[in-house]
Amino acid sequence: MAPVVVTRRLPDGGVDPLLAAGHDVETNDGDEPRSADELRAAAARADGMVCLLTDRIDADVLAAGAGRLRVVANVAVGFDNIDVPAATAHKVMVTNTPGVLDDATADFAFTLLMATARRVVEADYFIRSGKFHGWAIDMMLGQDVFGATLGIVGIGRIGRGVAHRAKGFNMRVLYYDPNPLPPEAEEQLNVQRSSLDRLVAESDFISVHTPLTQDTMHLISTPQFNAMKPNAILVNTSRGPVVDEAALVQALNARKLAGAGLDVYEREPAVHPGLVSLPNVVLAPHIASATVHTRSEMSAMAARNMATAVRGGRPPNLLNPEVKR
Ligand code: GLV
Repeated sequence: MAPVVVTRRLPDGGVDPLLAAGHDVETNDGDEPRSADELRAAAARADGMVCLLTDRIDADVLAAGAGRLRVVANVAVGFDNIDVPAATAHKVMVTNTPGVLDDATADFAFTLLMATARRVVEADYFIRSGKFHGWAIDMMLGQDVFGATLGIVGIGRIGRGVAHRAKGFNMRVLYYDPNPLPPEAEEQLNVQRSSLDRLVAESDFISVHTPLTQDTMHLISTPQFNAMKPNAILVNTSRGPVVDEAALVQALNARKLAGAGLDVYEREPAVHPGLVSLPNVVLAPHIASATVHTRSEMSAMAARNMATAVRGGRPPNLLNPEVKR
């Protein structure tokens, strides 16, 4: 039997379901991302690949696996790193890990929202650099969160999780999504559907939760920044390219908005230098789902998808069902 290749280190026990099913598992304990050559070589010798969002599984990698590779299991809910149509053309199943990271990610969107609104990182730095010489009435003034208007761009599972949390902060919530929620869900979550134009113009906080597709690339760019309230704070925990990063830097410098809390970047791990120098931006290294519990659930889910697929079954989180009739 050909091996299952796991491209990078997984949390402890992450490959156990595969070992338990008797697979020959090739891991990468050094945790160095595999090069394009290594990914192609792995695809050519493996039955299946468990990959991370840092692995670009493009048409070349999938062509290298043609005829042998049966499944690619992404340890992430987003799958913009995989060319799914090319996988389908080569009859390779693709799976992701939906659901298990919703709460951790929604929690983190709120973490960034609050940290940016209340200048927590700047305040911490202020203390550590010995600048706190006494209380002052106008020191580190931030934005109110309770009762503010929140705009959610993309009301999938994670966006709904953010709306749920916003109820506790008595926020007015607008959402933009091409697919409306049923009226009962809108009522239960206390959210109102809006155009993107209205959402950006009326929101004090804008939190992005849409997958990266051709349609959502640079969805938030100069026209949206120009329409924002000067006190607005943008939060992005989805994918970097949904926000036009260069336009964001320009808009922040021109004070078109008040700040940003970012977990994702257009060219990770590179971060636009214009962001790094701004005190009103909170930056995190793509860690929204990084809790002990969530990352281990994600790995286990990917391993279960893989184990089912290499056994010839239909994995639960199959993204291209046309491959497996
Ligand atoms: C994380 O970014 C994921 O897509 O799971």
